[in-house]
Amino acid sequence: MSVNIDKNKTTVNLDEQKVYMSRVAKIVKKRWERPAACVVTYGCQQNVSDSERIRGMLMCMGFEFTDNTGDADVVIFNTCAVRGHAENRVFGNVGALKHIKQKKPDMIIALCGCMMQQQHVAEKIRRSYPHVDIVFGTHVMHRLPEFLWNRLTGASRIFELPDSDGEIIEGLPVHRDGSVRGFLSIMYGCNNFCSYCIVPYVRGRERSRDPEVIIREAEQMVKAGYKDITLLGQNVNSYGKGEPHGVNFAKLLRLLNEIEGDFRIRFMTSHPKDCTIELLDAMKDCEKVCRHLHLPFQCGSDRILKQMNRHYTKSDYLALVEAAYERMPDLNLSSDVIVGFPGETYDDFLDTLDVVKKVGFTQLFTFIFSPRQGTPAAQLPDPVSRDEKVKWFEELLKVQEEILQSKMHDMVGKTYRVLCEEPGRMEGLVCGRTSGNMVIEFKADISLIGSFADVKVTNASNVIEGELVQKIS
Ligand code: SAM
Ligand code: SF4
Ligand code: F3S
Repeated sequence: MSVNIDKNKTTVNLDEQKVYMSRVAKIVKKRWERPAACVVTYGCQQNVSDSERIRGMLMCMGFEFTDNTGDADVVIFNTCAVRGHAENRVFGNVGALKHIKQKKPDMIIALCGCMMQQQHVAEKIRRSYPHVDIVFGTHVMHRLPEFLWNRLTGASRIFELPDSDGEIIEGLPVHRDGSVRGFLSIMYGCNNFCSYCIVPYVRGRERSRDPEVIIREAEQMVKAGYKDITLLGQNVNSYGKGEPHGVNFAKLLRLLNEIEGDFRIRFMTSHPKDCTIELLDAMKDCEKVCRHLHLPFQCGSDRILKQMNRHYTKSDYLALVEAAYERMPDLNLSSDVIVGFPGETYDDFLDTLDVVKKVGFTQLFTFIFSPRQGTPAAQLPDPVSRDEKVKWFEELLKVQEEILQSKMHDMVGKTYRVLCEEPGRMEGLVCGRTSGNMVIEFKADISLIGSFADVKVTNASNVIEGELVQKIS
């Protein structure tokens, strides 16, 4: 399959930032004996991926890394705004940095990410957290070298939060967290405006990277030894919409599947309204694409789904799941669910439980509705008490736990190909992940990490246990 590239697409020129990088590298060497940075990431995989680029830039500026904020000369919090709980954690942890900075006045504290992209949050930081030096938004992450340079050379506190939709930033250095599994962003932003969600406001409109650039990065990752590549986007199945190259997400999967090597491809997240039969067929046909689909349904009630602005019904969702299972009987599905959307009744919630029981998810990410300032849902009357919502939430967890237990028991006696990813809970144990995203712990030498192996499941209670059948590659 050939790919045409839109040569005119706006990408950000990084030449200026490269100059800042080398300037900062010189100045930090003089200022600190062994410059150390600590990057703390909140939120989703998109933020994890952004932090890998922030670390990449910091590394080029001569920083080593520490996990301890107290040992760091530069601390960067990459924040998340998706729920109130996530934001409160950030405020608490930024507050705690004040005492560290009193002892180390030389230290630089920077806040970035989705939370900072909200005007009221930036204002609060300006007013109540004077020890924070730099605040920058999601669209200007690549300008970190410039911000550091300016602050290090005496500029007053920096607040850089342009409200653009952002361009595509290619060519930033990357310092990936792991060496076996890696993230690869294929698109940024979201156009869906689900009525409860802050993401489209803080991440801007959808924009897709060119397929050729994605394929090149995937090839480099495979060459570097990555065996499990997760393609990232808020709604990966809108990939390529409106782009002249004509490569949609299903086609992109097929292109990536052609890359030589023994590796797996995963992706997240898929929106049910854009999950096409073409995509399910591509999943079925591509042997490198994992038998796992994260397909958030949020709620089972048609009335609430409409208010959530999700553009599908309960029966649309169930039909999609059936089409997926028809093509891939061994597929594992996972989902996100919100409990207690404004105006949701217990009857609405029972529809959610019904979907959970009918589909049989192997993993469910469950959230109680959290009002987000500026979103339509935050304006709606919300008569159900928090205690009541917590009761529904617990009921949901109980049902899901039973489903998971039965799914895990079904695995006993069967052999799965796993990618050995990390040491297990005790010495002599290794954790391997199946194509369906289940983790099996088994006796093996840690030298197996990074290899594929066949493992037979012997027991499933709290964890899935197995025994090594054979090492593959
Ligand atoms: N784009 C993805 C999607 O649509 O599935 C994920 C978006 S968000 C980062 C991850 C999950 O957070 C959502 O699927 C939703 O379940 C949950 N979420 C988003 N806004 C929320 C809110 N205001 N209150 C509670 N949960 C929320
Ligand atoms: Fe939020 Fe909906 Fe976009 Fe997901 S698809 S990021 S839930 S607005
Ligand atoms: Fe949070 Fe931003 Fe992700 S709001 S969930 S870090 S896109």
